[in-house]
Amino acid sequence: MGNIKIIETGDGSSSLYNEALNETYHSSHGALTESRYVFIKSGFEAIREGKLEVNILEVGMGTGLNAILMVEQALKYPEVTINYVTLEPFPLSEELIDGLNYNQLFEEHLTPYFKQLHSAEWDKVTDILPNFKLHKQKTTLEDFQSDKTFETIFFDAFAPNKQPEVWFVENLKKTFDYTSQDGIFVTYCAKGQLRRDLVSVGYDVERYPGPPGKREMLRGWKR
Ligand SMILES: C[S@@+](CC[C@H](N)C(=O)[O-])C[C@H]1O[C@@H](n2cnc3c(N)ncnc32)[C@H](O)[C@@H]1O
Repeated sequence: MGNIKIIETGDGSSSLYNEALNETYHSSHGALTESRYVFIKSGFEAIREGKLEVNILEVGMGTGLNAILMVEQALKYPEVTINYVTLEPFPLSEELIDGLNYNQLFEEHLTPYFKQLHSAEWDKVTDILPNFKLHKQKTTLEDFQSDKTFETIFFDAFAPNKQPEVWFVENLKKTFDYTSQDGIFVTYCAKGQLRRDLVSVGYDVERYPGPPGKREMLRGWKR
């Protein structure tokens, strides 16, 4: 995946910059703000109510920011079991992970969990909390297979103009097939082509106000 550097984003939280792709891992306006808004608030929070178990599929684990924010949710809602499956074909080095400043931004009790998320074995289910089960898979969405469906898909791939193959209709159809009935697909991307593709695979798509620096994002429901 080329040379990767640590950068600081608009809200003071770290992200990474991939030189070969000329692409950042999060919005330059604020990594933490974007993750909380796009994936936690507009994704998990939108479907959580009344559920005792939630399966989440993340496309692109990267820094693990979405994953640690979901651990925070698991601590907040101990009655809800979260099965968190996250795909990453290019795991980051320990040096890069250790250089991120997330631990300084979170409450202290989350620090050990961030380490555990990254040290957990690949391709195996690990209990991070009694109600948070992590399954990191060192694979692409293209090769991923599961016998489960997911209430929420966190689609956090690099932008379509940087990694178009990840956004191909075949991949979107696959996520639709893996979305549970009444489940949702969330992404930071708001491109018209993506909206049309999500509709073509079966999602009921809404344009939704975006995080700071972004007017809109897309959210697809499987009704
Ligand atoms: C925008 S970054 C992810 C940000 C991440 N969620 C975070 O919080 O740091 C996109 C990630 O997708 C991964 N990726 C690249 N190709 C992929 C593929 N075909 N399937 C799944 N993930 C892929 C990249 O290695 C990268 O870590």
